[in-house]
Amino acid sequence: MPNDLSVPLVWPEEGVTRVPFRLFSDPEIYELEQERVFKGPVWHYLCLEIDLPNPGDFKTTSIGEVPVVVTRDHAGDLHAMVNRCAHKGALVCLKEQGNAKDLTCAYHSWSYDMSGQLHSIAFRKGLNGSGGMPEDFDTSKHRLQPVRLENFHGLIFGTFDWEIDSVESYLGDEMTQLVRRNFEGRRLKHLGMHSQIIHNNWKLYAENLRDSYHATILHTFYTTFNVNRLDMDGGIMLAEDKWHHCSYAKRATVRNAAEYKDVHSAQYNSKLKGPYLLDPVDEGDDGITHMIQAIFPSLCIQFTLNSLAVRFFQPRGPEETELFWIYLGYEDDDEEMTQRRLRQSNLTGAAGLVSLEDGCINEFVQRGTKGSGDVNAFLEMGGRDVEPSKTSRATEVAIRGFWTGYRRCMGFD
Ligand SMILES: [Fe+2]
Repeated sequence: MPNDLSVPLVWPEEGVTRVPFRLFSDPEIYELEQERVFKGPVWHYLCLEIDLPNPGDFKTTSIGEVPVVVTRDHAGDLHAMVNRCAHKGALVCLKEQGNAKDLTCAYHSWSYDMSGQLHSIAFRKGLNGSGGMPEDFDTSKHRLQPVRLENFHGLIFGTFDWEIDSVESYLGDEMTQLVRRNFEGRRLKHLGMHSQIIHNNWKLYAENLRDSYHATILHTFYTTFNVNRLDMDGGIMLAEDKWHHCSYAKRATVRNAAEYKDVHSAQYNSKLKGPYLLDPVDEGDDGITHMIQAIFPSLCIQFTLNSLAVRFFQPRGPEETELFWIYLGYEDDDEEMTQRRLRQSNLTGAAGLVSLEDGCINEFVQRGTKGSGDVNAFLEMGGRDVEPSKTSRATEVAIRGFWTGYRRCMGFD
């Protein structure tokens, strides 16, 4: 596929072990990504089914820069569509979330039902016998642009590609099993959410999620208190096509610590004032106590001890990204478990350290790669291949997997 750039980008011949720094700030590449990645053969996370429990509910989001609204119509069916009036292009739905009889544009009262069909417009017949729309104006030809939608175990995905296979096929067998591990047959419960603007290109966050070896170095709290360390048993699973991954760790297997439940900090000879912060209960029968599953391009499912969260991010320009954190529990959790999940959400959220540290380090990369010309990143930790890593997370294989998907979408491979 030609890459259509006025200054063609030639990917280094080493392949996914090299990444041109230019990709993180070039506005032309950013524009091309809107077409090739965000409108490409990709399923994008839109929202959760529990965001829309009742007929008439709606939730706004975006795919890339395109505003999208997800609705539940009055018959109970889910729909997704571009949040853009077919008349003059104004946003039809202004609120983040709510319930409505229909979606009516504030500009000229073009009114759509909850499936996006136009049913009425103001002054269609004009006024006092003059003006108005031509006789052959047909409301059925002016609906909100539909977005293909699939509900996968309570996660709502959307795509502009009407040809690609189902979400399950997009994820592949192993990634599907992991989604099922956390979501199948279990009604979710919202515990809270927050969002943050991070001052970096969206792909730096996509890389950061897949960077399994930085946690031990950058997130010293995790290492100190045995939340996630490279010396725990763990590994990297990769989807068959390499686009998605899961990095996992088993806390009970930590080495170099007499007792993994000990919350004593060896490094600073200090203790947690609230040791109950790290008081996990085993869930699942696989021993996994920390997992980051990244679904290409911009979704992450996180289980840190008992904190379950969905993270997703949306580009807000070449050098700005909005990152959302949705904290979840299960409907059948008792109060103690709910409190535990809420407490442990502080391990990653804005009140904790991880989101702050990652936001900061990604901005350092954004600033450091300015004016880089044709200089590339070097990604050979763990080798040069793009294969699962069963015994080590000291590897950049999942990042190489991301670039495999990116290059395929963008036509750079
Ligand atoms: Fe991090």
